[in-house]
Amino acid sequence: MQKPIRLGLIGCGGIVQITHARAYRALTDTVQVSALADIVPENLEKVGEMFDVPTENRYTDYREMLEQAAIDVVTIATPHSFHAEQVIAAANAGVAIISEKPMATTLEEADQILEAVRDNGVPYTVVHNYLFTAGMRTALTELDALGKPHFGRSVGMGLKPADFSADHPTPAFAWRASKAKGGGCIIDTSYHEIYSVCTLMRSPVRYVEARVQTLRLDIDVDDIAMLLCEHENGSITTVSGAWCVPGTDSGWCEMHAENGSLRVNHRHNVADALRRYTRADGWKQLELPEFDEAERTDASGHARYFAETFKALAADAALPVRPEMAYHNLAIIEAARKATTERRAIEIPPI
Ligand SMILES: NC(=O)c1ccc[n+]([C@@H]2O[C@H](COP(=O)([O-])OP(=O)(O)OC[C@H]3O[C@@H](n4cnc5c(N)ncnc54)[C@H](O)[C@@H]3O)[C@@H](O)[C@H]2O)c1
Repeated sequence: MQKPIRLGLIGCGGIVQITHARAYRALTDTVQVSALADIVPENLEKVGEMFDVPTENRYTDYREMLEQAAIDVVTIATPHSFHAEQVIAAANAGVAIISEKPMATTLEEADQILEAVRDNGVPYTVVHNYLFTAGMRTALTELDALGKPHFGRSVGMGLKPADFSADHPTPAFAWRASKAKGGGCIIDTSYHEIYSVCTLMRSPVRYVEARVQTLRLDIDVDDIAMLLCEHENGSITTVSGAWCVPGTDSGWCEMHAENGSLRVNHRHNVADALRRYTRADGWKQLELPEFDEAERTDASGHARYFAETFKALAADAALPVRPEMAYHNLAIIEAARKATTERRAIEIPPI
């Protein structure tokens, strides 16, 4: 039997403690959480205790972890402004990298990441977890039968607390509300709706029109993002995201094609994860009986994403989310911001 992959975690906050931890626990044959880095000692202790990580392998400076710890792979789950520096340092240390989204905060940083990853020959991937939910995986198997897509739309609306600000006592709110930390609705929340709808359309985006603005909250990043995208195959999509609208029906994406339509409900369990429309049957909720309890409750898709990614790393095979996909997502976000300030459609270069 192969030895487990030795994993170092950079960032031990909310997403790691809840969602990543659950995925790692299901993968103990493949992965061993061996070292941790976080600037907040309480978070180090909490995650350290969860995985019995020896105290000498818990670091408040991630650079020391990269220098000293015996690890094969790192996951990066820190505020967005740190991703580029940490991915580049990890690449220079010669370890494989799984980074939470987004790849970086700008395409300039993303280019530096790709260069460091290429120069050091290390595997690198970004977490696009909603492609791995039971609903989305089933939807992807339906696409051939549905034929040529012409329209897609995705919606991720929500309402942040009234005191949501860069000074908020909850760090996960504070950095999301801060431009310097790489926050904002489009890069944090709408990020998922963009790659989800693009995947269903099976075609990269070529032109973006958008309004990415701060309409309601007292923050220096956007609280609303409305995109109109034209894809290379001629289809169009809309992406609607907000932090200032109560989300009664949010976190979903649809594609409409010549033989029917699909609607994937994100952040749901399998009970209403996928609906299909055909002229003969109208809209029908699909039951997805082939998915077990673990997959039913993997509402964000992280467990499946990590399972497939670690399996590919162990086999030295291609990773399920290619860096080009994350780069393209960031290019759409950057184009949407530019489209807002210049009030015109922005062209995106081919992937
Ligand atoms: N894929 C998803 O569905 C999903 C969901 C939530 C969050 N995320 C992503 O996960 C990442 C973290 O988000 P979160 O919600 O866990 O935030 P969080 O604020 O709860 O956690 C961030 C952690 O990083 C630590 N940290 C900050 N600066 C650091 C540094 N320089 N070095 C080491 N550690 C540092 C903080 O102390 C904290 O423990 C972000 O990239 C976010 O977009 C992804």
